[in-house]
Amino acid sequence: MRIDVLTLFPQMFDGPMTESMLWKARDRGLLDLHLHDIRQWTTDKHRTADDIPYGGGGGMIMKPEPVASSIEAVLEGAPPGTPVLLMTPQGRVFSHQIAKELAGYERLVFLCGRYEGIDDRVRQLLITDELSIGDYVLTGGELPAMVMIDALVRHIPGVLGAEGAADADSHADGILEGPHFTRPVEFRGLRVPQVLQDGDHGKIKRWRRQEGLRRTWQNRPDLLMKAPLTEEEQYLLATFVDEIDR
Ligand code: ADE
Repeated sequence: MRIDVLTLFPQMFDGPMTESMLWKARDRGLLDLHLHDIRQWTTDKHRTADDIPYGGGGGMIMKPEPVASSIEAVLEGAPPGTPVLLMTPQGRVFSHQIAKELAGYERLVFLCGRYEGIDDRVRQLLITDELSIGDYVLTGGELPAMVMIDALVRHIPGVLGAEGAADADSHADGILEGPHFTRPVEFRGLRVPQVLQDGDHGKIKRWRRQEGLRRTWQNRPDLLMKAPLTEEEQYLLATFVDEIDR
C-alpha cells in the first residue's frame, strides 16, 4: 500500500514512522510512505501557507491554493476513488472497523491541518472523508494521521507475525480482549490462571471470551449495546451483572 501524507511538519513523522512495526512494514515493501511538505506548493517568495480569516476572529487559516495543488499532485497516477482523508476533530470518529476498511485500499492520502483549519473550499472540492481520533482538539492533524496509519498498517497482510492476528485484537468483534500472562507462573503472590496452564484449547478459548466480556462489562459497557453476542455469551454476561449487584 502507498500512503501520501500532506503536512507542514513532515519531520514530526520521523520517530514513529521509523521504529518497530512501521519500519518493518516499510522495510518489507508492504508500506510505501511518502511525506510531503505542503510549502513545496506555495508560489510566493515567503512560502506563505496561511492567511487571516474572512469575517474576523482569531487564528490563521491554511490557504486553499497550496493545499489543493498538493492533493492534486499526489493523486496523479492514483486509482480513481483513492480516499483523500482530512484529519479534523469534526470528522467521524476513527475505529477498528475504519482501520480495517482503509487497509484494503491500494493508496491513501492523509491531509493534516494546522492553525485554525483549512479553507473550507478544499474540503468541498477534494476531500472524500473527514476523520477524527476523538472528541478533543489537538494542535494539528499530524498525530491523528500517525495514529491512523499505525492502526491500519496492522491490517495489511504480512505486517503482523501471525496472519490474521489483528482479528483477535480488542475491538475486532466489538468486545475487548481478556488478560494476558507470561512466565513466571507466580509473581508477587499472583498466579497465572490454571486454565491457561492446562493446555485444553477449547477451555482456553471459552475462558478468554468470558474474561473479555468481563473487561468489557467493567470498562466499556457502552460496547455491549452494539456487540453481537451468542446465547452463551449473554448468559455469561448475566452472571457478571449478578456478581456485581450482589
Ligand atoms: N486535528 C485536531 N484535533 C483532531 C482530532 N481530534 N482528530 C483529528 N484531527 C484533529
